[in-house]
Amino acid sequence: SAEKKFTLPLAGKKILVTAGPTREALDPIRFFSNQSSGKMGYAIAEAAGEAGADVTLISGPSALSDPSGISVIRVTSADEMRREVLARYEHADAVIKAAAVADYRPESVSGSKIKKADGPLLVKMVRNPDILMELGRIKKSQLLVGFAAETEQLEDNARAKLEKKHLDLLIANHAADGFAKDTNKVTFFFADGHQKAYGEMPKKEIAEKICRTVSELMETSGQ
Ligand code: CTP
Ligand code: CA
Repeated sequence: SAEKKFTLPLAGKKILVTAGPTREALDPIRFFSNQSSGKMGYAIAEAAGEAGADVTLISGPSALSDPSGISVIRVTSADEMRREVLARYEHADAVIKAAAVADYRPESVSGSKIKKADGPLLVKMVRNPDILMELGRIKKSQLLVGFAAETEQLEDNARAKLEKKHLDLLIANHAADGFAKDTNKVTFFFADGHQKAYGEMPKKEIAEKICRTVSELMETSGQ
């Protein structure tokens, strides 16, 4: 419509973005984590804000500073991230899960520093909840966007995750192309079976493409 031309593409939409790694404590001073910098998720939160959305960024530990105009919730562990995401899920129009959530955590956390004289150390790791899987299971009309960094069989793994987690869109890359860098080389996998591969691009540009795609998907699904 004539009015629409002057409206930002994500105006009025509530969007939850997760970013960064999670940290899983072993004792008061040690943890397990991964190489995620948070750059992709922060860029998405920023782009969604610029596109007019009401954005909440739920971030694991990251050296990046809070994007302006966005409400940022800092978390540490996967369990904490899960709690903060679930608390806001019902009222969200879309969830974009760029966080690299740790799959495992130590079965128990020592209350005091583990001393080297106590070793050798065997740490039993147990599975963390899969936040995105849970969102997929209980989803109503929310649009769900997931990420996958793979070292092999990118397409098969991406398609499997898209289906298993009931996603509308999955953005996949080869692990070597994205971690801690300002650029990435991604492929978008859609629920209807089609896919779109992009060449190397700045994460800012990828973020803008993701936001544009989310807005288009919302439009087609009548949201
Ligand atoms: N994810 C999540 N909670 C987890 C693990 C992953 O929400 N405990 C989300 C990620 O944020 C990402 C998507 O699921 O959007 C895919 O993450 P990925 O690690 O690629 O997939 P997994 O299902 O954990 O499978 P695997 O690591 O074994 O490849
Ligand atoms: Ca994983």
